[in-house]
Amino acid sequence: MRRILVTGALGQIGSELVPALRARHGESAVVASDIRVPAAGGPSDGPFTMLDVTNARQLQDLARRHEIGTIYHLASLLSATSEERPHVAWDLNLGGLYKVLEVARENRCAVFFPSSIAAFGPTTPKRATPQDTIQRPTTIYGVTKVAGELLADYYAHRFGVDVRGLRFPGIVSHVTPPGGGTTDYAVAIFYDALRHGRYDCFLGPDSRMDMMYMPDAVRAVLELMDADPARLEHRNAFNLTAFSFTPEELAAEIQRHIPSFEISYEIDPVRQAIADSWPQSLDDSAARAEWGWKPEYDLPAMTADMLEQLRIKLRLPAG
Ligand SMILES: NC(=O)c1ccc[n+]([C@@H]2O[C@H](COP(=O)([O-])OP(=O)(O)OC[C@H]3O[C@@H](n4cnc5c(N)ncnc54)[C@H](O)[C@@H]3O)[C@@H](O)[C@H]2O)c1
Repeated sequence: MRRILVTGALGQIGSELVPALRARHGESAVVASDIRVPAAGGPSDGPFTMLDVTNARQLQDLARRHEIGTIYHLASLLSATSEERPHVAWDLNLGGLYKVLEVARENRCAVFFPSSIAAFGPTTPKRATPQDTIQRPTTIYGVTKVAGELLADYYAHRFGVDVRGLRFPGIVSHVTPPGGGTTDYAVAIFYDALRHGRYDCFLGPDSRMDMMYMPDAVRAVLELMDADPARLEHRNAFNLTAFSFTPEELAAEIQRHIPSFEISYEIDPVRQAIADSWPQSLDDSAARAEWGWKPEYDLPAMTADMLEQLRIKLRLPAG
């Protein structure tokens, strides 16, 4: 059996997707890669290699040397960081995807490519955002995600590459901190609630966005890649969500566990403008119909588990 390559494997999603893939396929079957080295004490239970996805030759050599059959392509610059460095976002997010798809075409690999709620913009219907609708994002991150969705479709139709993908909402997790997205507040709030009993939020109290807990996000990737291709009408860029909430609603849920918790707001205009341009709740019925998507965690279940897991991680007494 050919091996699996994960790019950007040390990031928020990769650090939980790699162990899930290794649990299914075996440690040596999954080659984790990133442009940086794992932190000391980090996971070392399988092959890891340095890889810059913008370097086509490195990518091609690695794919041949390790006999790669599937690429989970996670390397990317996230929304807020992309606004600080738009040219890097273009080169990495779109240039990297192009190189991955080329290697996949030449080596007959399957590809997983995550898009985002950022692929929508202010003219998209904000509530129950349909699977197929207006996509005119106003961020460079969103531009690279829409272009990436189209490029992925093109490689599927033109060259027969089995490329599949999702539009992830904001992902909440406790293993690795998020890497510079607009929904990062929904992770930071848990750390500050436990450490300081208060959180100063960079988005306003009413900023509603789609969200998901990491165990559901990882399961969604595995289930989409397992899905019967005959059932996939879309293949790529499936709307995906578990629930949506505002900072105020998340704070209220945390207060059910930590009654003294307080939230204040110091709005960052850049991230607020990004949040305001995104949908408030996605319609993910295509994912449900075509490959059986169903989230397991709602907001209360996620909040309870995040607090429990972080208390262990931060060595705090149980709540
Ligand atoms: N986390 C979320 O909430 C979220 C939401 C929507 C979509 N996504 C998408 O999911 C994917 C993974 O996101 P994430 O949250 O794990 O991101 P992350 O920022 O946590 O991790 C990205 C990883 O890519 C690596 N990287 C950067 N430049 C690289 C290069 N040139 N070559 C190889 N690796 C490089 C980084 O070192 C980092 O480990 C991205 O495509 C992102 O756009 C994430």
